[in-house]
Amino acid sequence: MMTVPALRVSDLTKDFGGLKAVDQVSFQIAEGELVGLIGPNGCGKTTTFNCISGMLGMTSGRIKVLGQDASGMRPDQIQGLGLTRTFQHTWLWREMTVIENLLVPPRQQFAPNALFALLRPGSRRAEQQRVIDAYSVLDLLEVSHIAHNLASELSGGQSKLIDIGRALMSSPRFLLLDEPVAGVAGPLAEKIFQNLRALTSDKGIGMLIIEHNMDFILRRDVDRIIVMDAGRILMEGTPDEIKQSRDVVDAYLGNPGQMEE
Ligand SMILES: Nc1ncnc2c1ncn2[C@@H]1O[C@H](COP(=O)(O)OP(=O)(O)OP(=O)(O)O)[C@@H](O)[C@H]1O
Ligand SMILES: [Mg+2]
Repeated sequence: MMTVPALRVSDLTKDFGGLKAVDQVSFQIAEGELVGLIGPNGCGKTTTFNCISGMLGMTSGRIKVLGQDASGMRPDQIQGLGLTRTFQHTWLWREMTVIENLLVPPRQQFAPNALFALLRPGSRRAEQQRVIDAYSVLDLLEVSHIAHNLASELSGGQSKLIDIGRALMSSPRFLLLDEPVAGVAGPLAEKIFQNLRALTSDKGIGMLIIEHNMDFILRRDVDRIIVMDAGRILMEGTPDEIKQSRDVVDAYLGNPGQMEE
């Protein structure tokens, strides 16, 4: 029996005036699969995420989330299909605690009718359930001890974890994570990755993770890596296949330090 991919992107193209930021990009990711998306600065990784999540209109192409056509939908509608994203630059409500941050719906994926939902009968129970969910997300990410810290007191790595936690609050079936460990010190970056791997295996969440450090991602337990260059997919394969590919090494020659073996 054929299974439906969690995410299918077909011929995605995004032009900014004369610039083809994303050019005929196609790939699919299964439920529970953990896939890395890498490529040099400005090659179109974030723009790909912006188009998939509905934050930017695409020039052409099709997006399917769990078999449902998401092309042209609003971000909150796409989140309703089960796809949630995080942003390259983490943004938390600094004067709120960690747990309060989890209870605020994510920026830009806020459904227009979410406020009205709180006025419905039974909303109090729903609210209590959300608080319980928030604590279990912190537990899952092993950061329950900072639940009542102010976001302004967190380290960069802790903020990244809370951002992932906020994405998990929508019970996603698929996560797009834009550089979830950028600027995070080695051991915590490793721990974040282990947590993400556990989420794909235990909960079957599919994930596409942008990572700018090729050396780092090649050493992680990912199922596949997609390499972009100048808006196009240069190569797709297992970490071992990517390591052996001459094309990929060449694409990185202009970026010394990103391919250290
Ligand atoms: N809103 C926009 N308007 C015009 N050009 C844009 C816009 N967003 C991105 N671009 C351009 O599109 C190209 C791809 O940018 P994008 O942010 O997707 O790259 P990236 O691979 O995420 O890079 P980085 O590794 O630096 O985050 C770049 O040339 C960028 O300047
Ligand atoms: Mg980017």
